[in-house]
Amino acid sequence: MNKQSMDIVDFHSHILPRADHGSSSVETSLAQLDLAKKAGVSRIIATPHFYPHKHTLEQFLTRRAESAEALFRAAPKDSPVVKLGAEVLLCQGLENFAGLESLCLGGTKYILLELPFSDFREEYCTTVRKIMKSGIEVILAHVDRYSKENIESMYDVGVRKFQLNAESLCGIFKQKHLLEWAREGLVVALGSDIHGADKKAYHRFEKAKKALGDSLSVIKEKSDEIFAQM
Ligand SMILES: [Fe+2]
Repeated sequence: MNKQSMDIVDFHSHILPRADHGSSSVETSLAQLDLAKKAGVSRIIATPHFYPHKHTLEQFLTRRAESAEALFRAAPKDSPVVKLGAEVLLCQGLENFAGLESLCLGGTKYILLELPFSDFREEYCTTVRKIMKSGIEVILAHVDRYSKENIESMYDVGVRKFQLNAESLCGIFKQKHLLEWAREGLVVALGSDIHGADKKAYHRFEKAKKALGDSLSVIKEKSDEIFAQM
């Protein structure tokens, strides 16, 4: 298969109507799906934000289900397949959050965790270690957005699954360590992280696929495997 036309799962997206700030209406979500389809993306994981300090689990799951239902009802039959996940904000003590496993990606043991952008605390490492000890497998969302050192601290507590945002591989000056992580097999997923009907989101996705070179087939294999379990 031609590497550039490889159909990779979009592992990180905000495409559910009114589930978060990613899409304000069914129309916007349909436009997002259409952009994906035109770029040859046939599988998407919808990952609305879950903020433990703001949302209750019940509210979130209900809103996500209603939103997905509205989208699936309106989407044309040949739209990309959408599975449900969440982008969960890491906070201290998250390991004690009742029902955390129901925020995993579509019934799997994988959770997509984003680190807070403000400060990095040693306690986050302890929390992540405890979450993994409970049998949940952590995938770190958009590792490109954080310092290499902070991601390495996560590696040190056993995290071996990273997700990259496509935009990080589109600039002239690519962060070398991202491509190194991909070569080492640590990157398991690529995401558009699309918000709104951003016409450039899937162009960046295509561009990122090219930038990944030989690592792309490994990422495809790993994200395919997770998606198949959902
Ligand atoms: Fe996101």
